[in-house]
Amino acid sequence: MKVTNKKSGFHYVSGFLLIFGAVGLAQAAPQFSPQEIERGAYVAKVGDCIACHAVQGGKPFAGGFPMPLPVGTIYSSNITPDPTYGIGKYSFEDFDRAVRHGVAPGGKYLYPAMPYPSYAKVTPEDMKALYAYFMQGVKPVAQPNKPPTMIWPLTIRWPLAIWNWMYVSEDHVYRPDPKQSAQWNRGAYLTEGLGHCGACHTPRGIGMQEKALSANGSDGSLFLSGAKIESWYARNLRGNDVGGLGNWSVADIVQLLKTGRNSSGAAVGSMTEVIHHSSQYWTDADLEAVAIYLKSLPADPNKPKAPQPVAPVPQPDLHSAGSLAYAQYCAVCHQNDGAGAAGVFPAMAGNPTVESRDALNLIHVILAGGKTAEVKGVHPFTMPAFAGVLSDQQVADIATFVRSGWGNSGAAVSASEVAKVRSDIAKTH
Ligand code: HEC
Ligand code: HEC
Ligand code: HEC
Repeated sequence: MKVTNKKSGFHYVSGFLLIFGAVGLAQAAPQFSPQEIERGAYVAKVGDCIACHAVQGGKPFAGGFPMPLPVGTIYSSNITPDPTYGIGKYSFEDFDRAVRHGVAPGGKYLYPAMPYPSYAKVTPEDMKALYAYFMQGVKPVAQPNKPPTMIWPLTIRWPLAIWNWMYVSEDHVYRPDPKQSAQWNRGAYLTEGLGHCGACHTPRGIGMQEKALSANGSDGSLFLSGAKIESWYARNLRGNDVGGLGNWSVADIVQLLKTGRNSSGAAVGSMTEVIHHSSQYWTDADLEAVAIYLKSLPADPNKPKAPQPVAPVPQPDLHSAGSLAYAQYCAVCHQNDGAGAAGVFPAMAGNPTVESRDALNLIHVILAGGKTAEVKGVHPFTMPAFAGVLSDQQVADIATFVRSGWGNSGAAVSASEVAKVRSDIAKTH
């Protein structure tokens, strides 16, 4: 019997030698310092690995999280150090290639649901710390991976090699821009790389690829310019005054990422998960670096510059169907004057979710409800779901009312728009 161990290049000529050799290798496994492992734990937090590599109530990093693709569902992998079901046997090179280039041992091309096009920018130092953490800071879990649900030939992974060739051009570690400060570069590194903010906030093209992986290059103005993801709209994070972060200060951005809310409102939808699992744990210095970087992104020139023109409502009609329904269902929390309650219920007046050109998040939150991001030391508040209580027409009436009341300038919402969001939500949940 002849066995080739690809990782080490050793040849074992007998079963006896194989066992003997394996013991030898196990003994030679590198020991990582507690500092290295702790650093890796932070890198994993910033990279938000847990968001996709665990299911609710499941063991950390044991995988099995379903990710629906247009052609079927794939499941995230077990990335605990279990030698059989997890990544316990991966060398550093194996791990680096999987996380940064999307190719697991044996030439298994990963679906880009794993955000390796962003992680490609992670530095060798951060990758080494991450490896130390996954090898020795995470508990092994003997849980097999779930196979994807699509049917042959879609289960064949090699076309993903072509996808990589077409779309993943920026296949290199982040290169600092010498014209910018160290703080700006740290922010760019975290936003474009480990933090993979573009995975949700950058629009995708026909191949489902992110249209830009950084703010440079020909399509750079599309980077973080806003995109629809799972019936939410991950809003524009560029400098646009309308719909972007043009009116937010560095402190506003830091506060939102740290606590899930700031003076203009609360994070909703998938952003609450990002804050819950990841950004609340970032150091203040890292949050500030990201905010400074985001504030440097020029407005997307293709987005509207002025609020949409809306027929002025000098005296809101307090007897309209929308106003009455608001008073009945919403005012107990968000108040009759739309001012909400500071730190508890977000204000409706001047709130970007309410006024946004695309009313998707407003409709979604009314139908599905929400919970403020779970953040240490901050009490979470819940908004009930109204999908079972309000008709499409009632939701449209309320949405239209809040979009035009208290000086807001959002256009009217129709019952058919609400019906569309209702059916999209039913498909993704
Ligand atoms: C947005 C979701 C998402 C995030 C965030 C994410 N992953 Fe993944 N990851 C996946 C999915 C889905 C797969 C399986 C892809 C497939 O089967 O083609 C995967 C596969 C992997 C694999 C390959 C394992 C194997 O099958 O051999 C490794 C290693 C991995 N991820 C590590 C990480 C690390 C480390 C992080 C954090 C830095 C991370 N992932 C963050 C979704 C994610
Ligand atoms: C029991 C209290 C309560 C009621 C009733 C309620 N909400 Fe909310 N609402 C909340 C809380 C708490 C949040 C924050 C949720 C989150 O962060 O996901 C919220 C969030 C929102 C948001 C998102 C705000 C932002 O800053 O992004 C909108 C819009 C909204 N509510 C509208 C409504 C409307 C319209 C109604 C009536 C149909 C309503 N709410 C009823 C408590 C309530
Ligand atoms: C899993 C998808 C996802 C990822 C990853 C993600 N976001 Fe978001 N983000 C959203 C969605 C959806 C919204 C819109 C909901 C809202 O406005 O609260 C949003 C909103 C925001 C907002 C505005 C919040 C508000 O209350 O208006 C900021 C700021 C933000 N994201 C920053 C970031 C940064 C920085 C990163 C990377 C570290 C990031 N996001 C990664 C989905 C995501």
